[in-house]
Amino acid sequence: MSKRQQIAAGNWKMHKTFLEGQGLAQEIRTMSESELTNGAKLLIFPPFIHLQSLVKQMEGSAIGVGAQNINEHEQGAYTGEISAAMLKSIGVQYTLVGHSERRQYYNETNASCAAKLTAAFKHQIIPVYCIGETLSEREANKHFDVVSEQLAALKVLSAEEMSSCIVAYEPVWAIGTGVTASAEQANEMHIHIRKTIATLFNQSIADAVAILYGGSVKPDNAQALFSMSDIDGGLIGGAALSSRDFINIAKGF
Ligand code: 13P
Repeated sequence: MSKRQQIAAGNWKMHKTFLEGQGLAQEIRTMSESELTNGAKLLIFPPFIHLQSLVKQMEGSAIGVGAQNINEHEQGAYTGEISAAMLKSIGVQYTLVGHSERRQYYNETNASCAAKLTAAFKHQIIPVYCIGETLSEREANKHFDVVSEQLAALKVLSAEEMSSCIVAYEPVWAIGTGVTASAEQANEMHIHIRKTIATLFNQSIADAVAILYGGSVKPDNAQALFSMSDIDGGLIGGAALSSRDFINIAKGF
């Protein structure tokens, strides 16, 4: 098992009304405080409307709160968007960048992700940079190249910034499908990611960066995934909407 920080991150996607979100977060806090003894770090990524109240609700706990998206511009005429400075002003500590659903439905590219990474760090928000290949890319045996290209966006970061950045490998074919990459398949890619980061930065930064796996992580497969050499945790979608499942996944370290 690695000495890196182990992280279970819940991406709520577009789920939970205001009261439902408060309830879920409170359950996660209560259960983690009474049951979680393995030192795993919990992060939750609720929709924007929850951020201000959940930052307050999680105060004094070890649970970090993050946004699911961030705009790359400082401010301006970008209707419907939320800036890094705005997130920072309400105490948000983390943000997802480049989730595959944003790449797929909202045209995010490696270039726009690079700008988002820069914007996040400018305001001391830690990004979880999401990467991963589609099924057709894997079938065409292009998965390592696709992930390397996505990782090249990290070049905009300084070595110091990269040291606190988190990476999440989420093969698109495993998201919400119930099909998970095997622990060996996922670990093979995590090793590739770490090698690529060593090339972009250096070996000690690569050795320290937390790389999460995402895609149909559930309580019954978390332990096998988390026991692999280069898998430092999970980015969990569906199962993070159940406090019981989320905590049981976090117990899998
Ligand atoms: P599922 O766990 O529902 O497959 O979602 C994974 C994901 O996209 C997390 O960001």
